[in-house]
Amino acid sequence: MSFYRHYIFPKFLDLAMSSPAFRKPRRRTLARAHGRILEIGFGTGSNLEHYPPGVRRIEAIDPDPYLDRYSRPRIDASEVEVDFHRLDAEHLPFEGERFDTVVSTLTLCSIPDVMHALGEIRRVLKPGGQFLFMEHGRDPRPASARWQDRLTPLWRPLAGGCCLNRPVLELIESAGLVRDQVQSSYLRGVPTLLGYVTEGVARRPGTLQGTAAMP
Ligand SMILES: C[S@@+](CC[C@H](N)C(=O)[O-])C[C@H]1O[C@@H](n2cnc3c(N)ncnc32)[C@H](O)[C@@H]1O
Repeated sequence: MSFYRHYIFPKFLDLAMSSPAFRKPRRRTLARAHGRILEIGFGTGSNLEHYPPGVRRIEAIDPDPYLDRYSRPRIDASEVEVDFHRLDAEHLPFEGERFDTVVSTLTLCSIPDVMHALGEIRRVLKPGGQFLFMEHGRDPRPASARWQDRLTPLWRPLAGGCCLNRPVLELIESAGLVRDQVQSSYLRGVPTLLGYVTEGVARRPGTLQGTAAMP
């Protein structure tokens, strides 16, 4: 398993995450990124080229050291400065209310304790701050969801812990983040069981003292 995890899986992940099918959704999702930004599950760095021109610097976390071979060259070539930390999203060392924006793309599926991680995301967001996400998840069509349930135990160990069947929006809302603009669609060019993607913005409720609500 360790040869697979060190060499094969990172290559497979990089290829999958570079799929043209994700380019537009990534760009749409990141178009709103601003202020102090944290990206969780940075992976091989496929989001970097999609940050809007105003973004000069982000902080990013990912626990998997075997992805560095792919993420490092992207970080080095990027105009966006990346302050990278080897961390998991369940244990963020940042003080509360630090970030204007937290980004997660195709990552909530892989976080072992996803509710804990979403609680951490909420904690580190400023009141009114935005959680930008683009996540595959549980298909609303029952027959397809049943296949996702059946195949997740087989798929998960091969795919870095990825669960096919998580109800993304329900999880986000259960963590106390409030949906703002959200859309779901079946992405063309992505296998059906991974192709139901929900993207958009959820916010930490509230406003910063002395500031207006975020637009
Ligand atoms: C499918 S990849 C997505 C990578 C990247 N976000 C993208 O869109 O290309 C899932 C990522 O989640 C990361 N991950 C797994 N467990 C995590 C955790 N507990 N906290 C944060 N990231 C985690 C993996 O290392 C991997 O990089």
